[in-house]
Amino acid sequence: MPLTTHLAIFASGAGSNAQKVIDHFTSSPSLSKGEGAGNPKAIISLIVCNKPGAGVLDIAAKENIPVLLIEKEKFFRGDAYMNELKEIDLIVLAGFLWKIPDALIKAYPGRIINIHPALLPKYGGKGMYGNNVHAAVIAAGDKESGITIHYVDEHYDNGDIIFQARCPVFPNDTPGSLAQRIHTLEHEHFPKVIESVINQLAGK
Ligand code: GAR
Repeated sequence: MPLTTHLAIFASGAGSNAQKVIDHFTSSPSLSKGEGAGNPKAIISLIVCNKPGAGVLDIAAKENIPVLLIEKEKFFRGDAYMNELKEIDLIVLAGFLWKIPDALIKAYPGRIINIHPALLPKYGGKGMYGNNVHAAVIAAGDKESGITIHYVDEHYDNGDIIFQARCPVFPNDTPGSLAQRIHTLEHEHFPKVIESVINQLAGK
């Protein structure tokens, strides 16, 4: 890995996780500086989004981060966006709901990570995102839920788990109240876990 890691965040929702990751690598002096003054450890070089009007696009504009708005047919043709990603070292999925095409997975072995709002392997797979996940956890009567950060492979929510954190599910929880608790966990841990993956890739 180069001294400064170039991240692309793939996100299509409100972008609260994207914002936390951006903040982490730009605001903390000890974390944003690599060896050599002025070299940030990681920079968010690109926001990739498939949803015009998504909140994450406002964040990208505010933070002056370039955006790549992708279109389904072209994305699933496999290598169609490879050229736009050629400067990117690590891909971070933060609320991105499309499956990642095999060609991208092959081009980024061990360098695509995802955050999922439940304790995988439970509540993963197609259609399991956002409040669908929290509604399923509540309907099953689970007493705890949590977050999973994992490497991405060719199957939905299936790659090796890097990190999990847990939180309680209360009897009066709604999908919305559980989502808030989960978001708090995500915001606390995701940036730090990304940093540890970067350090590992750099062999530190
Ligand atoms: C996050 O809770 C993330 O775990 C979830 O989407 C939310 C995005 O929120 N991802 C999935 O459900 C993927 N299957 P954000 O846009 O505020 O970061």
